[in-house]
Amino acid sequence: MQNKDTIILAIESSCDETSAAIIHNGGVLSNHIATQKVHERYGGVVPEMASRAHIQNIVAVVDAAFVDAGINKKQITAVAFTQAPGLIGSLLVGVCFAKSFAQALDVPLIAVHHMQAHVLAHFIEERQPEFPFLCLTVSGGHTQIVLCRSHLDMEVLGETMDDAAGEAFDKVAKMLGLPYPGGPLIDKYAAQGDPLRFKFPSKEMKDYTFSFSGIKTSVLYFLQAQKKIDPDFVSNNLNDICASVQYTIVKMLMAKLERAAADLNIKHVGIAGGVSANSGLRTAIKEAGARNGWEVYIPRFEYCTDNAAMIGITGYYKYQQGLFTDLSATPSARAAWA
Ligand code: KG4
Ligand code: ZN
Repeated sequence: MQNKDTIILAIESSCDETSAAIIHNGGVLSNHIATQKVHERYGGVVPEMASRAHIQNIVAVVDAAFVDAGINKKQITAVAFTQAPGLIGSLLVGVCFAKSFAQALDVPLIAVHHMQAHVLAHFIEERQPEFPFLCLTVSGGHTQIVLCRSHLDMEVLGETMDDAAGEAFDKVAKMLGLPYPGGPLIDKYAAQGDPLRFKFPSKEMKDYTFSFSGIKTSVLYFLQAQKKIDPDFVSNNLNDICASVQYTIVKMLMAKLERAAADLNIKHVGIAGGVSANSGLRTAIKEAGARNGWEVYIPRFEYCTDNAAMIGITGYYKYQQGLFTDLSATPSARAAWA
């Protein structure tokens, strides 16, 4: 590798995954992820435990990323890290680690916005979207329709007023007695169920705004009423409940995405974030693409959920524009778009 090569160490620690990646000239050499299992028994991420687990994991995860990439630390030209948004204690671990590493190696630091990185996960892949690109970013904490004019010129056109789509999946899963995170389990059971068996209301919101608190409440009341008639209602109907809930959430997401794409006449459309691993959503966007003549983009599974490769690719684009930060950088739980 020559001196002019850009080799970025990227760190992601915004929630419950500790991840490190090495990006060489925009290509992923390694992407190591340690998922924290400690939260499963609590039905959700416990922030203090997440911070402690990041501290325990981060050195080993970074070491593994270097070993997988086959490079040594002295070859690094910059360190990128997730600055916001996320759990403040979790972010703090990654920010401190990244600062120390960059200072020790005397290389620049690059602060990355986690939601921008989810969108740029599309640019890890060989087949890349053309601009303007419209991305539905759906995760445990966010639901956004993002207009991308270039790699770093992005605008959030609409987002959720309350719960995120992933949160709705996880909260319904909890009501069904499923462990955290419940989204993938709803997806699994939905595959065997009838999506039209139970009807849940999907509230009509204006513009490109989403709301998922209503479906959560309607499922809660529905289950309470049904359990009075049949105490085993959930176990007897799990597949159909999951399929019906998933169908409703996906329908709400796709309605807004199709409307935004039509209003702006955009033909390059994709999904990103943890919920883009959902098979119902993947099928729905492919069908909408066929109907509307879109080029559809879905990142590989490992780049949908939280990972450092997406932080590294964002760092790469920022590096090219000299967008560095310094040692005064602090994490932020809720910072707006970078
Ligand atoms: O992007 P992500 O890994 O972390 C955040 O930034 O939040 O997203 C995690 C969310 C969780 O709510 C999880 O349940 C959801 O993504 N998720 C899914 C699936 N896989 C992950 N939701 C529905 N179906 C899936 N297959
Ligand atoms: Zn995320």
